[in-house]
Amino acid sequence: LGCAPALILLKLGCLARGAYVLDGRTLPDDFIFSCGTSAYQIEGATGSQAEGGKGTSIWDTFAHEKGLGHIANDETGDIAVDFYHTYPRDLPLFRQALGVNQFDFTVAWTRILPNGTGTTANPAGLNFYRDVIMTAHRNGMTAACTIYHWDLPQALQDKYGGWLNKQVVSDFRNYAEIIMDGLGDLCDDWLSMNEPRTFCQEGYGADPVSAPAIPNGTFKTEITCRHNAMLAHAEAHEVFVEKKKQGKVKGKFGIKIDGGPGVPMDPTSAADVAAVDRHHAFEFWEVSPLVNGTYNPTMRTALGSLLPSFTAEETKKVAGSYDFVAFDAYTSTWIAALNASDAAACTGEQSDFWPECVEDSETDHAGYLIGKPTESDWNFRANDTIYVGLRYMHENGIKAFTVGENGMAVIKEASLHLGERVVDADRVDWYRSTFKNINWVLDAGLPLIGASFWSCIDNLEWSSGFTIKFGLVDTKPGYNQTRTSKMSANYVKAVMTGELDS
Ligand code: NOJ
Repeated sequence: LGCAPALILLKLGCLARGAYVLDGRTLPDDFIFSCGTSAYQIEGATGSQAEGGKGTSIWDTFAHEKGLGHIANDETGDIAVDFYHTYPRDLPLFRQALGVNQFDFTVAWTRILPNGTGTTANPAGLNFYRDVIMTAHRNGMTAACTIYHWDLPQALQDKYGGWLNKQVVSDFRNYAEIIMDGLGDLCDDWLSMNEPRTFCQEGYGADPVSAPAIPNGTFKTEITCRHNAMLAHAEAHEVFVEKKKQGKVKGKFGIKIDGGPGVPMDPTSAADVAAVDRHHAFEFWEVSPLVNGTYNPTMRTALGSLLPSFTAEETKKVAGSYDFVAFDAYTSTWIAALNASDAAACTGEQSDFWPECVEDSETDHAGYLIGKPTESDWNFRANDTIYVGLRYMHENGIKAFTVGENGMAVIKEASLHLGERVVDADRVDWYRSTFKNINWVLDAGLPLIGASFWSCIDNLEWSSGFTIKFGLVDTKPGYNQTRTSKMSANYVKAVMTGELDS
């Protein structure tokens, strides 16, 4: 996005690309600094409050099955933080409070195609997103559009079991095509979907905690979901490439993937280090398909025929189906190789596929320096989570990436309010460590093209409801709530604009 002419520029305080200076290092002109959101978590105007002809998603259904402990305090996203109505004032605030040059949002499939299929976009839904993007642009921010963030149309779940049925791949392609036609002139970059591993595991795997929480889910159903998601991603990429040739879309195309790098419990043990390598092959399972169009050999050996295969034609579509990968980096995991005799010593979980112990705990093993534990059950982050994850991706052929999400959960955030201020000092420490990682990544010459922090604003944290806050801007759910930027927002803005060293 070029900056607006001088007068408007002054009025809006437009920050030209290239203005970021991190710890004395001038970042490239096109470096993206953004904050993230997702439709169901912020918009409202859905469920019992649906507006603009919006259809029902699996999250609307899940949230309305009350009394089953689906969402903390039986909350729903019906109103969420009311972004559907408040975006005209929220977007300038994000810009001003955080100094971001991009806004990351996601499109609700059911605003565009209420029942998931069809040949034309619902005008009210499309116009809402068009205006969101134009508002971002007017306020000096580009917009990254994510096509899917977990809110599958309920109609497709009912019709054929959602992500477990290959039909979803062509329905996703159709939706991608319609949304690219509708927003192609406006979206600056595109992402196909958010964290396929997590939505498949939590919604379609064993012991589900997320919509649609299928009964009798297994690892096999989870893997089927992931496989279909990868194919759907590749179809959307193909649509993007075609439309780009026709001049109907612009920018780059990516996918958001999550994963917790492993830390060897004993860094001097070759067996533990090898176990970490295996862990990474599973944790960053999307990397090999995206680069090679096939699953990595470690997974193939461990899972055998449980793991589906791509046909030759699919391999061609999947391989290279991205311009950048967005890495959602939050947590890390201790990993130890186990032999039968010390299996009993494993205080965490024993992996299903390898004889190793996987532990998500705050315990400091072998003197490894760990980051501050967080309050929620995201209880441990090694100091180098972002760096290790991105290094793995680089070493395995990913050609460009962003930090797709990074943020810190706080449970008792109400206690951090001091009058009008929110003094979230732990989150400031969290982002200090984030900046340290970003510096390492840049020092190592890895192809980092941007960083997005989660989240622009407090929102509905899925099954945790509103009990966990990730926002850089504070709010409470409901209508007409105030917005207050937190100390962490001031901090990240000051660091990224070179006013303060991290
Ligand atoms: C992952 C998801 O993309 C997002 O929806 C969620 O709120 C954050 N990370 C924090 O859990």
